[in-house]
Amino acid sequence: MQWSVDNINLSDIDGFWARPWSERDEAFKLLRHERPVSWHPDAAVEGSAIEFPVGNGYYALTTYQDVQIASRHPEVFLSGPGAVSTLDLPPEMVEYFSGMISTDDPKHARLRRIVSKAFNPRNVQAVEDSIERLADEVLARAKTSGTGDFITDIAAPFPLEIICQMMGVPASEYDTVLQCSNVILSNGDSDIIPEGTDPVLAFLEAGATLTGIMEELGAYRIDNPIDDITSALVNAEIESEKLTKQELASFFVLLVTAGNETTRTALAHALHAFTTYPEQKQRMIDDFDGLAKTGVDEIVRWASPVTWMRRTLATDYQLSGVDLKAGDKVLLFYNSANRDEKAFVNPDVFDVGRTPNDHYGFGAPGPHFCLGAHLAKREITVMWRELLRRYPAICATGEPAQLRSSFVNGIKRLPYALN
Ligand code: HEM
Repeated sequence: MQWSVDNINLSDIDGFWARPWSERDEAFKLLRHERPVSWHPDAAVEGSAIEFPVGNGYYALTTYQDVQIASRHPEVFLSGPGAVSTLDLPPEMVEYFSGMISTDDPKHARLRRIVSKAFNPRNVQAVEDSIERLADEVLARAKTSGTGDFITDIAAPFPLEIICQMMGVPASEYDTVLQCSNVILSNGDSDIIPEGTDPVLAFLEAGATLTGIMEELGAYRIDNPIDDITSALVNAEIESEKLTKQELASFFVLLVTAGNETTRTALAHALHAFTTYPEQKQRMIDDFDGLAKTGVDEIVRWASPVTWMRRTLATDYQLSGVDLKAGDKVLLFYNSANRDEKAFVNPDVFDVGRTPNDHYGFGAPGPHFCLGAHLAKREITVMWRELLRRYPAICATGEPAQLRSSFVNGIKRLPYALN
């Protein structure tokens, strides 16, 4: 594809976002150099009986520096009006679907304080122990399933089961939780939402199902607390502040979507990268402990599982010479920041020993920086340590099927062989 800054439309899901990753990277490179802050029209929601007004468009922030500035100034770049969507969703829907990721201070500070406390070292240690055990279980199943799809066998179930265990969701609900999270992040992808189904209704139903599971569990844990995160979040006796039933449900929807699809995406991109660059896989096999930390950060930079987050301007502000006005929407393109030549040496090279590597895969420093970054890195480390130790010949045996989305750099299917 021959890009010019005028033919790059970042709202074109079936055009721009369906292009191979390397072509998309070329387009972002051009934008960083020639139009670091560019305007794009909003896309209309198609195929739904529910009407959403088409917005006034948004500005794309593509440089490392501008993404950093926007994240560091949450008083100017607000998350409340809908951090995870370009649509101006009605406030009830924002709360329902995205919880604290779409709030600003003082509400965000309160929610973050409560959930951070619940992620205390004792709870996180319990989760870390179960990461090792779950990796073992998932790999034992993968070996016998014979489906040969890395997503179904390994990348999808592993993070999902960890989050469900963390929150105390019964195993009988895992399939439902997985399906709902797929639907919420599918962006209407016809592999996930069948033709003829209203994508917005499917999205709402998935949110309602997850909410129902958590409301029931939260209510039960008020009367029957145990030593788990859900009990800590709903009981003021255990922590000094607690979440309401509605807040707990929104937090669960956020965890299931923010913590599950993202880690899945990173695990899958790692397989693709290790297959494309076998010498980097060999380095990891030869010295896993020495390279685990840099290797996992490089996987997250390379994959950039969350492509963007939205902010809305509270006041006028200038970025890269462009005058933004109060009320304007901006998208912080983490994928582009993570390939910015001004921040990374040879950004298009996958290097498991990359140092320094201050990537923005988990967001840039600021109040919304990923709550699960430590957990996610641990999951990727444990799973890839086990895969490379047990199956050093593991590789992808076909091309990845990209998710139809600009928001998550997802992979729907990736055929693989363990030996
Ligand atoms: C490789 C995996 C992951 C990636 C790439 C990722 C990425 C991100 C990004 C880009 C943000 C937004 C940052 C911002 O707006 O400044 C975020 C926020 C968040 N992430 Fe993650 N994430 C990952 C895994 C997880 C996991 C495992 C969990 C759950 C345990 C989690 C929970 C959250 C939460 C709750 C927020 C909202 C924080 C807030 O608004 O204060 N994430 N993540």
